[in-house]
Amino acid sequence: MQNRITQLFNIKYPIIQAGMIWNSGWRLASAASNAGVLGLIGAGSMYPDVLHEHIQKCKKATNKPFGVNVPMLYPNVQEIMDIIVEEGVKIVFTSAGNPKTWTSWLQEKGITVVHVVSSVKFALKAQEAGVDAIVAEGFEAGGHNGRDETTTLTLIPMVKEQLQIPLIAAGGIATGKAMLAAMILGADAVQVGSRFVASEESSAHQAFKQVVVDAKEGDTQLTLKELAPVRLVKNKFFNEIQDLYKTSPTKEQLIELLGRARAKRGMFEGDLEDGELEIGQIAGLIHDIKPTAQIVEDMMQEFEEAKQFVSNL
Ligand SMILES: Cc1cc2nc3c(=O)[nH]c(=O)nc-3n(C[C@H](O)[C@H](O)[C@H](O)COP(=O)(O)O)c2cc1C
Repeated sequence: MQNRITQLFNIKYPIIQAGMIWNSGWRLASAASNAGVLGLIGAGSMYPDVLHEHIQKCKKATNKPFGVNVPMLYPNVQEIMDIIVEEGVKIVFTSAGNPKTWTSWLQEKGITVVHVVSSVKFALKAQEAGVDAIVAEGFEAGGHNGRDETTTLTLIPMVKEQLQIPLIAAGGIATGKAMLAAMILGADAVQVGSRFVASEESSAHQAFKQVVVDAKEGDTQLTLKELAPVRLVKNKFFNEIQDLYKTSPTKEQLIELLGRARAKRGMFEGDLEDGELEIGQIAGLIHDIKPTAQIVEDMMQEFEEAKQFVSNL
């Protein structure tokens, strides 16, 4: 299957394995790329030297295209970008920041730039900044998100109405049927996060992967909107945030409760009570931990069956 996105990245299937802190290291990214989709290393949880190592290992593990996701809110972004250029990575997904800051700098070095947004307004700003494609991420998604609570079902057609450049849909997509739905709404491809957390190659702690498998509808909620809105599993830490909200806390009090390294503690070290557990609403539909290649194969098979179903309607 060929379209604007498969051609832009030179991949077989129009699927992006999302960059995810503490989950998408070289193992997941190379497995995804080898399976015919675009694998992304999540640089957001890596010190520059760690990212360097992951890129080098990824290059050894796959000869297919892969990229790096860079949330721009960290202080060492310049160092991260320098490593990406030095290592010859050809695709960068930026998020959590102004797309104007890095887009032309990266493109001048021959790098394809995609920016992640959660609203029409920011999609248009990213297009204006000259990015090659955008990811529009709905409210259902795992991880950090926008404040407006726009769902994928409504965001994608609204962005599509105004955007000319290629569009990648994200948020709540874990099956071939959802992928087809997103493409019918106007997406050229989909970015899948939560489903790949529960893969064998994800670097998440086994206990966190099990939380994802066990999660049911209603087990996650978007919170900490005053800081950076994030969808979390309702565990002990989440309840502490809710209790603090009852006291009309200041931003500083929220920052103090969040503390440091919560996401690492929860997702990477498996502290299910005091750690931050980021996952999307679609976790309620994820019932097993599978090899990445199997996830891709199952999605594509279901996608083809769904197309058949639609043609018979
Ligand atoms: C555990 C986790 C960590 C994430 N970390 C990042 C990140 O570092 N950078 C980023 O741009 N998005 C991040 N996201 C969002 C994903 O890239 C992706 O857009 C989202 O997961 C798609 O929605 P889904 O989870 O419903 O598939 C993260 C998502 C999850 C579940």
